[in-house]
Amino acid sequence: MRETPVIDKNEIEAQKAVMELVKNGFSGRSPKALVETYGCQQNVNDSQRLKGMLTEMGYSLTEDRDEADLILMNTCAVRDNAEQRVFGNLGALKHLKAKKPELIIGVCGCMPQQEHIADRIRAKYRHVDLIFGTHALYRFPSLLAEALEHRSRVIDIGGEGAIAEGLPVLYDNGAKAFVSIMYGCNNFCSYCIVPYVRGRERSRRAEDVLAEIRALAERGVKEVMLLGQNVNSYGGDRGETDAFAELLYMVNEIPGIERIRFMSSHPKDLSEGLLLAMSRCAKVCHQLHLPLQSGSDKVLRDMNRRYGAEKYLSIVSRARELMPDISLTTDIIVGFPTEERTDFEDTLKILEAVRFDSIFSFIFSPREGTPAAKMESAATNEEKSAWFQEMLDLQNRISAEINAKCVGQVRDVLVEGESRHEPDMLFGRDYANKIVNFRGDISMKDKIVKVRITKAQTWILYGELM
Ligand code: SAM
Ligand code: SF4
Ligand code: F3S
Repeated sequence: MRETPVIDKNEIEAQKAVMELVKNGFSGRSPKALVETYGCQQNVNDSQRLKGMLTEMGYSLTEDRDEADLILMNTCAVRDNAEQRVFGNLGALKHLKAKKPELIIGVCGCMPQQEHIADRIRAKYRHVDLIFGTHALYRFPSLLAEALEHRSRVIDIGGEGAIAEGLPVLYDNGAKAFVSIMYGCNNFCSYCIVPYVRGRERSRRAEDVLAEIRALAERGVKEVMLLGQNVNSYGGDRGETDAFAELLYMVNEIPGIERIRFMSSHPKDLSEGLLLAMSRCAKVCHQLHLPLQSGSDKVLRDMNRRYGAEKYLSIVSRARELMPDISLTTDIIVGFPTEERTDFEDTLKILEAVRFDSIFSFIFSPREGTPAAKMESAATNEEKSAWFQEMLDLQNRISAEINAKCVGQVRDVLVEGESRHEPDMLFGRDYANKIVNFRGDISMKDKIVKVRITKAQTWILYGELM
């Protein structure tokens, strides 16, 4: 076991001093920054830290590319389409830079943490001023200061992942917040780029996590989502076992916090202790996102997932024994290279057996540098697309059936605001994270109210305020 790497406090203080210098350099002017986020919740959380640092440096935030003085793309590398979107948007910014040469364009996050991508940006996107990876996030102030001062390209894709405490964070308004409890991943699933771009697992100290959540509760946050690529191994880098369950008990004690969620959980590390903690902590939502990836033991082995279908089903049945109302969601990959029709059918069988509330499904995307990218594909692209659709049809039916059973029930709903699609309605989420639309007054925003479910669709519930 190696020691969890932590950035020295003095280094963080040095970055804070740079933030002050950059701010003073603007002499009271407040330039505008746009941060575009392409990835998962962890990426969103990183963007909140980038925005926190930008605000400290005197920037105000904008959503409008045309008025921005700085555009920062916080990127995701998990699938090819995420990367293509970034390349497309980067290409489109060329004109903007030509019109406004003082504009600073930056690319950060998981994409440039891969050397071949950083090289491609360097060579083909000459209008990009700032390129840095996930490990350099805390160095953003000094990198930006250098780009502003020298008006030359700044590139920093080195270093290893380490925990940086004490950086400013700009949380979104509202009663919900993401809290990263750990970074990185040790699992090396054979298809996945995350361990290569996020480094080894490193867990924040429980006292730092708890202090952040207490501060959030004081600002009115009611629901926290604890984040990690595999929260079940929280503390493992310090040699602790079942530390995530312990953390849940402690977060459950924080006054003001009413709901606790977490993601993701790796089935190979899900313990009895965690299920017991979930069932005993009143604030922990009976909701579990438990990525399955495939229902075939052969494919799971080739994916290096280190569990089989039977183990997965036994976790589900124990979870339901302890929490009969538990809502389950999962991730599925269709078209992994060694997947054949019979393997795909094994996945369908598990979807039928478990009856997930919803699934997040993806067609396998080869990622350069991962073992699966070198494997020959058994199925054609057409077959994979057809399987994908077949799976969605099955899941849509199951989700609709599960939602139909909610009609007549009363759910506690944390109100998030006006519904985007139905402006005369409010929307919020119940314990299962299902969207519930209902008529009510906007003054209920950020409060938990009781709603009787009157109608159900595949993705949305409708109800009446009690
Ligand atoms: N750490 C989490 C876990 O193990 O469940 C998930 C991390 S990943 C950000 C989210 C999901 O993306 C994975 O669960 C997997 O289904 C999907 N994914 C990862 N790599 C992929 C690839 N190369 N092609 C398609 N989907 C992929
Ligand atoms: Fe990727 Fe597997 Fe780690 Fe999840 S557990 S981030 S799928 S390597
Ligand atoms: Fe997340 Fe994408 Fe990186 S899923 S960890 S932002 S590769």
